[in-house]
Amino acid sequence: MKYRNLGTSEIKVSEICLGSMTWGTQNSEAEGHAQMDYAFDRGVNFIDTAEMYPVNPMSAQTAGRSEEIVGTWMRSRRSRHDVVIATKISGPGSSIVRDGSGVSKKTLELALHSSLKRLQTDYIDLYQIHWPNRGSYHFRQSWKYDPSSQNVIETRDYILEALESLSEFIEAGKIRTVGLSNESCWGTSQFLEIARANHLPRVVSIQNEYSLLDRKFDLDLAELAVNEQVGLLAFSPLAAGILSGKYQGDRTPPGSRRNFSPDIGGRYTKHVIPVVDEYLRVARKHGLDPCQMALAFCLMRPFMTSAIIGATKQRQLEITIAAAGMSLSSDVLDDINEVYRRHPNPMGWRAYLKIQRWIQPRCWLDWQWCLLQPQVQRVLTYRPDH
Ligand SMILES: NC(=O)c1ccc[n+]([C@@H]2O[C@H](COP(=O)([O-])OP(=O)(O)OC[C@H]3O[C@@H](n4cnc5c(N)ncnc54)[C@H](OP(=O)(O)O)[C@@H]3O)[C@@H](O)[C@H]2O)c1
Repeated sequence: MKYRNLGTSEIKVSEICLGSMTWGTQNSEAEGHAQMDYAFDRGVNFIDTAEMYPVNPMSAQTAGRSEEIVGTWMRSRRSRHDVVIATKISGPGSSIVRDGSGVSKKTLELALHSSLKRLQTDYIDLYQIHWPNRGSYHFRQSWKYDPSSQNVIETRDYILEALESLSEFIEAGKIRTVGLSNESCWGTSQFLEIARANHLPRVVSIQNEYSLLDRKFDLDLAELAVNEQVGLLAFSPLAAGILSGKYQGDRTPPGSRRNFSPDIGGRYTKHVIPVVDEYLRVARKHGLDPCQMALAFCLMRPFMTSAIIGATKQRQLEITIAAAGMSLSSDVLDDINEVYRRHPNPMGWRAYLKIQRWIQPRCWLDWQWCLLQPQVQRVLTYRPDH
């Protein structure tokens, strides 16, 4: 297992982080503990959770249960100092925690103390803002997200207020570092700039979706991540299990995520299926497990701090953790790139196709209409005199 620094901090985290969002719904407490035992025995030292977890399904009754499961495990098995804990305060709009209120001085205080209690600890290593107050492109909201009505002054005031509270938590020893999630390049730069100008803590990481099927981070945030040392904690590196190939042929294996979310959070569309087939072909050609190939690809990206994996079964965990330290040959990377160049954003196809379907017949009709116009006919049939 390789370890990397969490941003500019001295905290070393394993390149594989264990996600907890199924503990308390798809997985029992005993299964969550068994996953942590297995992962920590193989060098993982990093766990990601959130005040709203578990999901699949999410409910007010179970919210906070994943943190509790991490808490009972730390209490019974490990010295607190061997574990790097990342948790999150929810942004606005999730009615299952704090009636959907967003991030503010008041909610930060409330959420942090509840998380500390559930985790049975007196400090959190990485405290993250799950999604921004102002909204976000993430979770397929990019189809309709429109930033034009944002109030920049309000946003900057909110960032300053949040960073001041988080700074107080650091001084009190309640958290060690601060991170963002589902953030944009602009939002992250605002956090960095306001921290710099006011001597407040700079964020150390950004937790966004990243996988072979979703590489938006490559385009802009990658540069910020490298230059500002705000590494990516990639969530859903297996595209929530889609890259395993188990849903090909429109199957829904019993107990899999598709039973809870038929389109897997908007990720599983008919346009994604042929692209998954192509990545499965690349894996087969090189004798690789498709999940290990997908994960190893993420781990080799220059801006990656950790990839956050999820598992509901022991066997899944065995496969993904074995990908740590794997290096893909240049032949594999060339084949991956070849698929990527043809399908840079397969989860974005749906909208693209819709637009194309709308435009194409109109263009064709316009062209036919144009050809029939007498002036056009004259130009097309013009012959010089000589
Ligand atoms: N910040 C955020 O907004 C955010 C959002 C999402 C996730 N996260 C974090 O990221 C973590 C991981 O997310 P994720 O679970 O979506 O990641 P993932 O690693 O892409 O998907 C994991 C899921 O894929 C399936 N799977 C794993 N290995 C498999 C294998 N070998 N064969 C077939 N299926 C396999 C399992 O689901 P099934 O068995 O149920 O099919 C497993 O739960 C979460 O626990 C959470 O900590 C954060």
